[in-house]
Amino acid sequence: MESQRKVRLGIIGTGRRGAYLASLYHSYPKCEVTALCDRFEHVAEEVAGQLGIPGVARFTSFELLIDSGLVDAVLIAAPPTLQVDIACYAMEQGIHVTTEVPAAYTIEQCWKLVRTVEKTGVKYQLCEQLRYASFVQEWERMARAGEFGKILLAEGEYYHYEENWRRYTDLRTGKMYSQPDQAGVDAQIESTWRDITFSHPIFYLPHTLSPLLKIMNDRVTHVSCFGTRPQGYTHPNWPVRDIELAQMRTSQDSIIRVGVGFSTPHGPRKDTACHWYQVKGTERSVEWSRSKTDLPRLWNKGDEDWTEMRWSLRPEEASEFIKTSGHGGVDGWPVETFVRAILEDSAVTMDVYDAVETAAPAILAAESSDEGGTLKTVPNFRK
Ligand SMILES: NC(=O)c1ccc[n+]([C@@H]2O[C@H](COP(=O)([O-])OP(=O)(O)OC[C@H]3O[C@@H](n4cnc5c(N)ncnc54)[C@H](O)[C@@H]3O)[C@@H](O)[C@H]2O)c1
Repeated sequence: MESQRKVRLGIIGTGRRGAYLASLYHSYPKCEVTALCDRFEHVAEEVAGQLGIPGVARFTSFELLIDSGLVDAVLIAAPPTLQVDIACYAMEQGIHVTTEVPAAYTIEQCWKLVRTVEKTGVKYQLCEQLRYASFVQEWERMARAGEFGKILLAEGEYYHYEENWRRYTDLRTGKMYSQPDQAGVDAQIESTWRDITFSHPIFYLPHTLSPLLKIMNDRVTHVSCFGTRPQGYTHPNWPVRDIELAQMRTSQDSIIRVGVGFSTPHGPRKDTACHWYQVKGTERSVEWSRSKTDLPRLWNKGDEDWTEMRWSLRPEEASEFIKTSGHGGVDGWPVETFVRAILEDSAVTMDVYDAVETAAPAILAAESSDEGGTLKTVPNFRK
């Protein structure tokens, strides 16, 4: 008989993403949200109401939630700059951890994460979800079968514009605003992580590097990056670089090129909205759609032209829970795989090494961009 055991999960950070993931985890049959934490009590209270569990335990301190004895695992969707400290505190108490992306914001944080997972032996999984997209799984299969020949180049782009990207919190109420003056004259305004971190869009590489490195089964060893000036062109009052473009070398002598931007409009892609990918090998090349109307394509050495392919995001062979989840059926993957890894004591599908290997190149790319493109060496975090 199948075990009735459920993972008791605490959610730390119940803002936009945390609220959505709380509902996803709570609807997963083998998981139960048993505690919520946000630094603003009423923010967690609202989410408890939305989940239909108004009496659930709520905390404003993550330490108290972790020490409460009410959770086996936590999902952390607090501001990304805080996530490593919270994750390591939880792991030290024997609590399994999954965090939102990016995994870390400094190289020291990457090491701290790796060493804490190695020391405690609990489950740690990064929530990056595009690595499970159906076309990524198919490109990965091709790579393992040798159908690309030698992979020479992989490319990815993430150009995601929203007019209200920048956000500010009014510390009196916990409400967020896209303009500091919207909250009124008495407001106590604090910048959110978005306002702080998007000055370097290249920090946000997990959704680009995670699928590419998974397909390539590789890691980045060197990176160099250029950015436009640290003042927007579309929004001259935003202290951001509109585009940053990094070139990387991998341990298996492949080149990766990735571009990121959040502060200037860009045309949409089919299904992935803002993401685009390409893998070029000696025998085969594959490319994601450039627009909403063209199809992904494949070219084999010797072919007269590219062949249009019906690849998609949503997998045909997955549970209903995954297929009906957000971002085109990929958001459910990290939920199902994390809960299973805990209940079955099996390996997670994006471990701490995979996680920091998507973060460290981004951290060093941001440094390189500030220094006009200097070449940086990425540490090898694997034993
Ligand atoms: N994977 C994805 O597709 C995806 C999409 C969106 C956001 N994200 C990630 O999710 C994370 C959260 O993003 P968001 O847009 O929900 O941010 P947000 O600012 O809306 O929410 C963050 C929440 O954390 C709370 N918080 C701040 N400090 C805290 C603390 N010390 N303890 C507990 N709670 C605290 C804030 O009050 C807020 O409610 C980020 O890491 C972001 O990169 C991932």
